[in-house]
Amino acid sequence: MAETTLMSIAPLFLFLLCCATQTLGITIHSFPNGDVNGIIEAEYQKTVSLVCEVGDMASDEELVWLRNGAVVKLLDENKKGRSSVCVTPLVYEDNDAVFTCHLKTNDSDKASVTLNVTYPPQLSMSEEVQLELDSLLVLQCDMRANPPVSSIVWKLNGSIVDLLEGGFTVTNDGLISQLQVKNVKRHLHEATYQCTAVSPMYGQQTQTFHVTVTEKTVKFPVMPIIAGVVVVCATSLLAIVSRWSKITKCFK
Ligand SMILES: *[C@@H]1O[C@H](CO)[C@@H](O)[C@H](O)[C@H]1NC(C)=O
Ligand SMILES: *[C@@H]1O[C@H](CO)[C@@H](O)[C@H](O)[C@H]1NC(C)=O
Ligand SMILES: *[C@@H]1O[C@H](CO)[C@@H](O)[C@H](O)[C@H]1NC(C)=O
Repeated sequence: MAETTLMSIAPLFLFLLCCATQTLGITIHSFPNGDVNGIIEAEYQKTVSLVCEVGDMASDEELVWLRNGAVVKLLDENKKGRSSVCVTPLVYEDNDAVFTCHLKTNDSDKASVTLNVTYPPQLSMSEEVQLELDSLLVLQCDMRANPPVSSIVWKLNGSIVDLLEGGFTVTNDGLISQLQVKNVKRHLHEATYQCTAVSPMYGQQTQTFHVTVTEKTVKFPVMPIIAGVVVVCATSLLAIVSRWSKITKCFK
């Protein structure tokens, strides 16, 4: 019973598809497939291939591809009636890129797809950080990801950072998560730090920082500044002196 129902629906479905293609004229097929809104999901560095076809199979009219409104350069043999483009490897800038196809002679009938390039936050490296006592500590984690990360956590020696105890501030602007301390002390701040971002698609990603606090070194920026000031003062003094000799002449 169920089988016969399917059998009778299938030809009808094919019929609808065929008519839809003809009325639409221009269509885009993709690998991987797009969703109902023409959004094609693919991972960073993978490949998306797109094929544009004129509904009327006999047509050898020239097709044009646009990427975000800019014309894509095509080989001559890849223009007539059917045209394919391959986006590989996918880069971050390809996320949200819109590919549009239409006839060269008439752009009133066109088809578009949008790329959704997914990638985890780039948090794999381990960093050595050395800084002097009482200086400013800034640790940064790039939390950009698609889909966006759902949370980000900072840890110190394996435990969640105690903001109050260590005098830390944490800021997130959606791109970068930043942990900051104004005056580092060895007993409070020398440690292994980790930021862990949770991606709904890629799971946890962690970046590690080994922070060591060194003694202050003596710096000598003072001497050149004094020398500079002396030179400037001496020159203006000379200027006044020479002018003074002129001014005083008037009173002779
Ligand atoms: C362009 O295509 C549309 C839809 O297929 C059609 O209605 C229109 O007449 C065409 N315009 C020209 C100038 O061919
Ligand atoms: C892109 O794909 C991700 C993962 O499936 C999804 O969470 C996100 O909503 C998609 N974005 C768009 C604009 O469709
Ligand atoms: C973190 O662990 C290291 C190694 O055990 C230790 O030397 C350091 O003092 C610890 N840092 C803090 C702030 O507790």
